[in-house]
Amino acid sequence: MNAKNSRKILVAPSILSADFSRLAEEIRDVEKAGCDMIHVDVMDGHFVPNLTLGPPVIRWIRKATHLPLDVHLMIEEPARYLENFRKAGADWITIHIEATDRVGETLEAVKKTGAKAGISLRPKTPVQKIEGFLLQVDLVLIMSVEPGFGGQAFMPEMMDKVRIVRKKFNGLISVDGGVNAQTASQAVNAGTDILVAGTAIFAAKDRSEAIRQLRANGGV
Ligand code: DX5
Ligand code: ZN
Repeated sequence: MNAKNSRKILVAPSILSADFSRLAEEIRDVEKAGCDMIHVDVMDGHFVPNLTLGPPVIRWIRKATHLPLDVHLMIEEPARYLENFRKAGADWITIHIEATDRVGETLEAVKKTGAKAGISLRPKTPVQKIEGFLLQVDLVLIMSVEPGFGGQAFMPEMMDKVRIVRKKFNGLISVDGGVNAQTASQAVNAGTDILVAGTAIFAAKDRSEAIRQLRANGGV
């Protein structure tokens, strides 16, 4: 089956590459440019060597758009903050398998908040580690760069993970890191539903065109 033609491709701009001094404006701009959801990268300085934002900022993002908020938690022991993220407006909450020893419980706690649950894994983590959780999640987020920073190079070998998950999982698969008009087709051909892109959208001169190109997975 040609995975490429059978599903609608969703585009989720990662606000990590937005101008944070004008965040609401930046979000409205990508919404107008035609994206499907807003990807919010939360980093705690422990799980990854970078710090970003938390529930108070998400509360303001929630007011700026009606689009679903896809919150990617790169934080240790995320169970501590799930209610706060949900109350702030997260629609999707993705946790990392490496961030806790209580993955199953944490995913159940995400669902209890009413949010959709996602699981993600670092490039070095074998995909087999998440297989036991596929029945519990609505979304699998495959990292195609080491989590922590925007603007890194796409790791094509991570698309093997997408192919493996696609065979066993009917929910949404997202690819995050280094996605642009050149690399999008590799993700889509492997079976990805959601393309997360920071630099490729926020640094583009024409953001509508950048989103259109991603959705057409690099084609015209
Ligand atoms: C990295 C983040 C990504 C990142 C993507 O840890 O999870 O969402 O912002 O940025 P680009 O598209 O620039 O690689
Ligand atoms: Zn992310």
